[in-house]
Amino acid sequence: MNYQILLSTFKEKFEQEANRLFFAPGRINLIGEHTDYNGGNCFPCSITLGTYGLARKRTDDLIRMYSLNFPDIGIVEFTLDDLSYHKEHDWANYPKGMIRFIKEAGYPIDSGMDVIYCGDIPNRAGLSSSASIEMVTGVMIEGLFEFTMNRLDMVKLGKKVENDFIGVNSGIMDQFAIGMGKKGFGILLDSLTLEYAYAPIDLSNHSILIMNTNKSRELADSKYNERRSECKSALLQLQDAIIIQSLGEMTEEEFEAAKHVIKDETVRRRAKHAVYENRRTLSALDALKNGDLKTFGELMNQSHISLRDDYEVTGIELDTLVETAWKQKGLIGARMTGAGFGGCAIAVVEKEEVDNFIHAVRSTYQQQIGYQATIYAASIGDGAKEVALDEISIK
Ligand code: GLA
Repeated sequence: MNYQILLSTFKEKFEQEANRLFFAPGRINLIGEHTDYNGGNCFPCSITLGTYGLARKRTDDLIRMYSLNFPDIGIVEFTLDDLSYHKEHDWANYPKGMIRFIKEAGYPIDSGMDVIYCGDIPNRAGLSSSASIEMVTGVMIEGLFEFTMNRLDMVKLGKKVENDFIGVNSGIMDQFAIGMGKKGFGILLDSLTLEYAYAPIDLSNHSILIMNTNKSRELADSKYNERRSECKSALLQLQDAIIIQSLGEMTEEEFEAAKHVIKDETVRRRAKHAVYENRRTLSALDALKNGDLKTFGELMNQSHISLRDDYEVTGIELDTLVETAWKQKGLIGARMTGAGFGGCAIAVVEKEEVDNFIHAVRSTYQQQIGYQATIYAASIGDGAKEVALDEISIK
């Protein structure tokens, strides 16, 4: 992050110096995809890429926001007494929704603010840039107005912004990983109970690579909502036959015994993914705890196959990346990550083979898809937090 540009843009746009800086990461999900709205487990971690929010409180009730990622939109202005959704406010609806819901929850936000945002997570790449801007806004409001919010409550408000303000019916995984992340750890999250456990990610001589298809996730939100309703329909049909609250409660055997009550073949495959993926996630955690990277990698691969064939959220770009990755020397496992429909995949690769791996996957992708994929190593960093300004001014 170029902090000097952040600081000088603040001064240029708002004719004052900023006095507080906040950060929220993006996330990758190691395994457990499309399980977090099915009462299942997921296993995400926060990464070192993320969104910065540089801010200063105002004395009136004006809120001014500018993003270095969307210079064409210019400064977005609104006041504390009108925190409603405005299409033309574009990206700024995410932080606006967050301010609105924190205020509505009764926290004391008694003045406006000026904020410059800057993120180094690629937009719409499936690394949760939207949850990142929500959560950086959450910690910013908490810091500027000097109150402490239970972190899980902040995570839930972030989800509420997606669901009720933006209109995407997403689960809680992204805001959770970003709000609760810890350097060097993955988080096993049970989306039904919200119980969670940190698990150290020790891959010894292996790296996690992020492979961006550079295909923007068009129509992703409507297809995402469609998958959600397919799973809901499967659950309703299963509930006629057995007593369950969510697909995440079922074992593979229980599902196989009951699946005939789901009439539509497509809906049955969607439910199968949710059930099997949930169980795979628990097995993957066991494998990791036992230092069994080989099994962990195989489960990642199976996860991708299930997302490709049963859940149908991959597409030619993600499949090309992942299937090419599978053929490379030093590969432990590879799968798409996040919602799918474009966006990113991840691969666990032996460190010694990383350069060859990147070269081979990029050139096959370029040949088959016609444009470049971006591939780089991911580091697992901390969750949303304030950054001391004097720490960065010397960098
Ligand atoms: C998106 C959603 C998450 C989760 C994933 C798929 O990232 O925001 O809640 O459902 O897709 O696992």
